[in-house]
Amino acid sequence: MTTRKPLMAGNWKMHHTHLEAIQVVQKLSYRLEKKDYDRTEVVVCPAFTALRSVQTTLDADRIPIALGAQNVHPEEKGAFTGEVSPVMLAKLNVRFVIVGHSERREIFGETDDFVNRKVRAVLAAGMQPILCCGETLEEREAGETDAKVQRQVTAGLAGVSPADATGVVVAYEPIWAIGTGRTASAEDANATISVIRKTLRSVVGETAATIRVLYGGSVKPGNAHELMAQPEIDGALVGGASLDPDDFARIIQYGR
Ligand code: PGA
Repeated sequence: MTTRKPLMAGNWKMHHTHLEAIQVVQKLSYRLEKKDYDRTEVVVCPAFTALRSVQTTLDADRIPIALGAQNVHPEEKGAFTGEVSPVMLAKLNVRFVIVGHSERREIFGETDDFVNRKVRAVLAAGMQPILCCGETLEEREAGETDAKVQRQVTAGLAGVSPADATGVVVAYEPIWAIGTGRTASAEDANATISVIRKTLRSVVGETAATIRVLYGGSVKPGNAHELMAQPEIDGALVGGASLDPDDFARIIQYGR
């Protein structure tokens, strides 16, 4: 049986100045112990403006939290005003990049094809994409959840070889559960993640067993334990509750 180390990623979205980010990551590190890091990989994804400060804090204090970014542009360089390239992130020791978050797809019009280009660019730069997928409430009610995640995962990984796919993380985030306080039931989340795992198997074969699939959407200290008890859920992508170091630490400790 393949063992997948659980991963807990904090997506800070457009919150925390670089000064606040330094404080939050320090406070988080005070609350975590070696056994937490041994059991779970911990990642924080600050805004671009805070990446460098968080990186130097993690390095200076030898904090074993990995750095993640929330977005990237697929091109190496060029006339793309306002964008940040994969190599710029990699040089900051960024290990993970959130790709295709529903907010980027819905507010900024990112297509499956653009998301796929980002996935491949992140892997080519030696980093790990956290590829997001998930359905709207209308899609769920119309029974289209499975088809939606199958499409997003298949399109997102087009052209990715099984060997490269070992670096991929997938996050299942039902859009109606993001920032709403509504969570998918742990069983429903587990069932959809099984569909995602099956899809991964058809796209990258045996490698699918090594790919971590996270749940995201109103994860809190109070529901982390139940979610993490599900066999298919390999961790969480946490938005609002990751802004507070106490709450995020409790989630990393599965609600204890
Ligand atoms: P939330 O956000 O935890 O605030 O619901 C999750 C996400 O959007 O990644």
